[in-house]
Amino acid sequence: MMHHFIVIGNPISHSKSPAIHTAFAQSVGLNISYQRQFCPNDFDSFKAVIEAFFCGGGVGANITLPFKEMAFDICQTHGLLSHHARSAGAVNTLMLKDGKLFGDNTDGRGLVADLNAHDIDLQGKKVAILGAGGATRGAILPLLESGADIFVYNRTPDKAKQLATDFHHQISPYPLSDLSGHFDVIINATSATTTGQTLDLGSVSSDVAYDMMYGKPSAFLNHFKNAQQIDGFGMLINQAKLSFELWTAKQIDLTQENLIKSLIKIRQ
Ligand code: ATR
Repeated sequence: MMHHFIVIGNPISHSKSPAIHTAFAQSVGLNISYQRQFCPNDFDSFKAVIEAFFCGGGVGANITLPFKEMAFDICQTHGLLSHHARSAGAVNTLMLKDGKLFGDNTDGRGLVADLNAHDIDLQGKKVAILGAGGATRGAILPLLESGADIFVYNRTPDKAKQLATDFHHQISPYPLSDLSGHFDVIINATSATTTGQTLDLGSVSSDVAYDMMYGKPSAFLNHFKNAQQIDGFGMLINQAKLSFELWTAKQIDLTQENLIKSLIKIRQ
């Protein structure tokens, strides 16, 4: 039986999710259809797309920009939310559970899984995150669960302070202008790489530099000449892996040779 999946976004034409999930399905011998679904950027259209998909027998949906918060609102009102989705305030993975819409968020766990795949253990480590938007919010609970000591630096200090309040002061907020010293891991969760802007990184250094973006030259990564530099492609793969495993109850082995070959092609 063919199982149907979609990724909903706006824009959506460049999404690599169909290729990634199709490669996962091949690697475990499943026959799936995974399509890109464009949606007009308003709540009613988004809700209609979700309803049509799941009423029509769809199994799972990934949600990307700008709909992650809308998906959260729909699950909060009409369905169920995982604790990761609750703490992220956003949903990137939808499915039906006991006939109800269930929203999860695999982005932050995807980040931690990719760091672990690079042999980086976060227990007790000093981790700086730059930015205090949705990307940072989604990463905090998984980073806390991995035992990291989290320092959030943001251009607008009040947004970092608000995050610290929301997470019961388990993280430390700072203005971006205070960024200095040495960290075990520094993560760029600002949108600066996407918009081609530079970040003022002063004299800060780190053993590991991680940019959540990929596919564009990163002024952020270039700053950390002596660090282990990692871009966000592995985070994309790992958040997809966690969604796929939730939907299908299959385990994806990212060390499988044919799967690695497919993922390298997808990245290009
Ligand atoms: P996302 O959901 O991807 O996190 P967002 O909510 O728009 O996107 O947040 C973008 C983050 O990048 C914000 O923390 C923003 O800082 P402000 O809160 O001060 O706006 C940060 N950001 C974007 N461009 C930046 C730049 N050039 N320098 C520093 N921070 C930047």
